[in-house]
Amino acid sequence: MEVIILPTSKEIGALAADSIEALVRNKPNAVIGLATGSSPLPIYDELARRHDEGLSFEGVSGFALDEYVGLPVGHYESYREVIRREFTNRVDVTAENVHGPDGASDDIAGACLAYEAAIVAAGGIDLQILGVGTNGHIGFNEPGSSLASRTRIKTLAEQTRQDNARFFDNIDQVPHHVVTQGLGTIMDARHVVLVAFGAGKAEAVRDFVEGPVTASCPASVLQFHPRATIIIDEAAASKLAGADTYRHAFNNKPHWQGV
Ligand code: GLP
Repeated sequence: MEVIILPTSKEIGALAADSIEALVRNKPNAVIGLATGSSPLPIYDELARRHDEGLSFEGVSGFALDEYVGLPVGHYESYREVIRREFTNRVDVTAENVHGPDGASDDIAGACLAYEAAIVAAGGIDLQILGVGTNGHIGFNEPGSSLASRTRIKTLAEQTRQDNARFFDNIDQVPHHVVTQGLGTIMDARHVVLVAFGAGKAEAVRDFVEGPVTASCPASVLQFHPRATIIIDEAAASKLAGADTYRHAFNNKPHWQGV
């Protein structure tokens, strides 16, 4: 796990975008795992800017991390729509290459299996973008999720519904159920880039970076990932005992190493 602490969300977005740009230039049909929430927005803004300057995503495929169950197809806050709005409509990704778990299916279990198969058929996820919930969730894998879980239905923690109520008119509109890539699915990605901002994430960041690997803090499974890059601001890093060590390591990396 590499922890990188940077001053601003713009710099964090740019560093994550550097990884994605390098991947796409090297592998034009790369498969990118797409996250929602506010954390990835600086990455999407930067990628859209680079697209305006000529970076093409034409051959890229995208797989969303998660989706609400029960929102009508096309609902403004469905994650499929959020990803379209915030990223894929701003670049030249082919619409058919953008996938998301189907939270509106009559057969949720079958749709989850099909989603896993679609990721495999695309060649697996090369780079998974992640945020983290205040309770340490990634995707919608709430505390208690199996560290080996695959795409499936989950019930949201009340904390998560409260955190996400800001996107809806009121908390009653926030669905109770979601479908999410599992922790095992996320762990299969070849590179994971997690971004987090603000003091509200400081405890979750401390727990998953420096605490024990435990289903009680789902993001802690990333300690077992061979290539997990955690890019955070000073506020999100404020409870890390090893912050100085992480800064020292980043500032003294061999120039050829990249993230
Ligand atoms: C939601 C999403 C997660 C996201 C989390 C944090 O629950 N399912 O993928 O990481 O919110 O969101 P934010 O980045 O807005 O803090």
